[in-house]
Amino acid sequence: AITVDPAAKGATIDDTMYGVFFEDINRAADGGLYAELVQNRSFEYSTADNGSYTPLTSWTVGGTAQVVNDAGRLNERNRNYLSLGAGSAVTNAGYNTGIRVDQGKKYDFSVWARAESGTTLTVSLKDAAGTLATARQVAVKGGWAKYRASFTATRTSNRGRLTVASTGAAAFDEVSLFPRDTYKNQPNGLRKDLAEKIAALKPGFVRFPGGCLVNTGSMEDYSEASGWQRKRSYQWKDTIGPVEQRATNANFWGYNQSYGLGYYEYFRFSEDIGAMPLPVVPALVTGCGQNKATDNEALLKRHIQDTLDLIEFANGPATSKWGKVRAQMGHPKPFHLTTLGVGNEENLPNEFFARFQQFRAAIKAKYPDITVVSNSGPDDSGTTFDTAWKLNREANVDMVDEHYYNTPNWFLQNNDRYDSYDRSGPKVFLGEYASQGNAWKNGLSEAAFMTGLERNADVVKLASYAPLLANEDYVQWRPDMIWFNNRASWNSANYEVQRLFMNNVGARVVPSKATTTPNVSGPITGAVGLSTWATSAAYDDVKVTSADGSTLLSDDFSGDASKWTHSGAGSWSIQDGQYVQTDAAAENTLVTAGDPAWKDYDLQVKATKKSGK
Ligand code: AHR
Repeated sequence: AITVDPAAKGATIDDTMYGVFFEDINRAADGGLYAELVQNRSFEYSTADNGSYTPLTSWTVGGTAQVVNDAGRLNERNRNYLSLGAGSAVTNAGYNTGIRVDQGKKYDFSVWARAESGTTLTVSLKDAAGTLATARQVAVKGGWAKYRASFTATRTSNRGRLTVASTGAAAFDEVSLFPRDTYKNQPNGLRKDLAEKIAALKPGFVRFPGGCLVNTGSMEDYSEASGWQRKRSYQWKDTIGPVEQRATNANFWGYNQSYGLGYYEYFRFSEDIGAMPLPVVPALVTGCGQNKATDNEALLKRHIQDTLDLIEFANGPATSKWGKVRAQMGHPKPFHLTTLGVGNEENLPNEFFARFQQFRAAIKAKYPDITVVSNSGPDDSGTTFDTAWKLNREANVDMVDEHYYNTPNWFLQNNDRYDSYDRSGPKVFLGEYASQGNAWKNGLSEAAFMTGLERNADVVKLASYAPLLANEDYVQWRPDMIWFNNRASWNSANYEVQRLFMNNVGARVVPSKATTTPNVSGPITGAVGLSTWATSAAYDDVKVTSADGSTLLSDDFSGDASKWTHSGAGSWSIQDGQYVQTDAAAENTLVTAGDPAWKDYDLQVKATKKSGK
């Protein structure tokens, strides 16, 4: 029986309670939410970023062309450019199957070009069946300058190609093709269908830009002094200003980021959808399986100053140094930043906390009203988690970011997780969670779990499902909330659950009591999945037991591994009684098919994992 007392006053539920977590994983930014249609527009892809890349990835050359990195470059932060021979042409293939254009819609082309002797460019959009828009001619003469042309598509195609042909020798950089029709018609804007799907959730906040993306890679800047570091942590100053001056990066998820979608665009999008912006900055301790603390006082100080500058960029008057940069980018009014995360899933709690304390002290000294979010490490339990929580509690931090990905059963069984949390301790930001799958049973288990979050709205202040977006042709992580390719996007069951909760946030909790545990029947787990990513991993024992303790499946990997299949990239083999991932594929899930005998809903999975995540 359920008893409800409508007169009793439960905890207040904040409007910001449910939000979204945007990370540039699964090509969520370039080739995704960022509307740019040209891939590798500034010729900065490199084999140092990803073994399959070259500076001409996504480009084909007719005639002579080479990518050059010399003093003739466009600027110091955009180091490569294309040198095209007279009578030659280059063609870009975009993302997925190609450049998507819709009949009757407008597209804006731009290029930075240099042609001392003068040349005429012919810019065309075609697919295998022929012309997609009337070709345009652009006269180029002199040093680096930006040239533009616009097209109206005469046909719809998913397989478009953009070609720039030149009569004379010319240098090119930052070759761009944008749909005119972006979300809220913003310049340098966002792909409309994806932005609209996120907006339809009515999120209370947007956590960005990651995730592992934030605190992995070098903490150095992009400069000659640091050797033009290619794999850097996400540093906000790299991502603002004119797009051709933003230093591209190679991210943790294995691909190049243009940073065309950068901090200004994240703040603007949050504002456009009425959500609170919640950025996360690196804390100089690398998490996500990499366990490294950067010991460099000067660098730490610089990052702390960068964080103060970020708050000024978001909130400072247009007369302040960084407020002025924001104003020059087109937003004189502040973005109203109130909450900021320092660090993500650091698995060295002591090292993380020592640095976090310095960030927090500096932020609170200058901006006492900013809520500074700490975190509890990569797992939802264990020594790291306990140590991190102890440190956070003792230091009375504002809020702790927790993350967990688990089975639907786990979410059903842990509905009471926050019932016992200390009411006088730090608040909880559940920054990342998902049950392992995009099926209805997953959405259902998340919905059940969210009732527990809401019941504890006095402790759990913010919660976001993760990850938000996945381009189906470039997946590093699944499940994901919204899926897309270059022509369409579709919602998962998990999305519908999130939309239901976000569109119906109550004002306060109405206390209720259940006298019996609801009876869950039927198999809720149809497969056993072990997930790993980024680094190699090895399992030496997997056991699935039912609630009564009987073993439904066990594998010590002493025989063959034929019952296991893989989803995603990566290869595995049996080695010395362990099941070992033999490459460093970014995403890999081992799955064994559901056994019809698994009728009990209360499955427990135990896996001993030797390394990796
Ligand atoms: O959401 C995907 C990844 O999961 C995030 O980057 C990381 O924080 C977590 O481990």
